[in-house]
Amino acid sequence: MTTVLAVANQKGGVAKTTTVASLGAALSALGQRVLLVDLDPQGCLTFSLGHNPDRLDKSVHDVLVGETKVQEVLVEAGEGITLMPATIDLAGAEAMLLMKPGREYTLKRALATVADDFDVVIVDCPPSLGVLTLNGLTAADSVLVPLQCETLAHRGVGQLLRTVQEIKQITNPELELLGALPTLYDSRTTHSRDVLADVSDRYDLPVLSPPIPRTVRFAEASASGSTVLAGRKNKGADAYRELAENLLASWTKDTALPTLD
Ligand SMILES: Nc1ncnc2c1ncn2[C@@H]1O[C@H](COP(=O)(O)OP(=O)(O)OP(=O)(O)O)[C@@H](O)[C@H]1O
Ligand SMILES: [Mg+2]
Repeated sequence: MTTVLAVANQKGGVAKTTTVASLGAALSALGQRVLLVDLDPQGCLTFSLGHNPDRLDKSVHDVLVGETKVQEVLVEAGEGITLMPATIDLAGAEAMLLMKPGREYTLKRALATVADDFDVVIVDCPPSLGVLTLNGLTAADSVLVPLQCETLAHRGVGQLLRTVQEIKQITNPELELLGALPTLYDSRTTHSRDVLADVSDRYDLPVLSPPIPRTVRFAEASASGSTVLAGRKNKGADAYRELAENLLASWTKDTALPTLD
């Protein structure tokens, strides 16, 4: 059975795309057949995995608003990953989708056609709560919320959690909120930890462990068109490997995900 994971937070720059790419590579290294879906018109996931969005003929846009079959747009992205790429065309998909009945279900229906080919699908949502993110959350079995460990990280979390609740009530009752994934974490200061304690106090939201440490390796990796797992050993890659192992255990053995306390 395919597990679909959405990575969502309407706040920009919190490491959604980095999490999708790194987790995808880590799950692939664990033997999972991985499909990553770039749902952001900026195409950062597509770009960071070595494909130039400007040079692609077809993308997730053609799947969502056209009749194009999913298989026709998929590209290989290295490290065993298959990618459903995005191009800037996707910016127009929002308006097109708004006119479609059942618009929130478009991605879910599309992914159902390739369910036999993949064990895990991870969806990179754009930094908004628009119709693309609603498609991601409707298609997903579970949702992970990357949260940058800085002051005011909690702003917008309440709105995101309300959206998840609405999705559960309306389009996807089975959606499971896995929790917040602390990113850009600096273990040398107490600040990161204070921010996380504040978030878990304010909201009924588990904070997952391990946190993803801040390291320059991530910028180096995306510039080279591969993930942080492909390069030299580093603590960022190790954290995503551990998260991938924990997620896989929770899916296959029904074990609980570790949380910070
Ligand atoms: N653990 C980390 N340590 C250092 N830099 C990181 C880390 N994770 C992500 N980054 C960097 O932070 C920036 C933002 O990351 P990313 O693009 O993944 O965020 P995003 O949430 O997808 O952004 P957007 O909302 O624009 O889609 C990138 O330059 C990325 O390389
Ligand atoms: Mg992104």
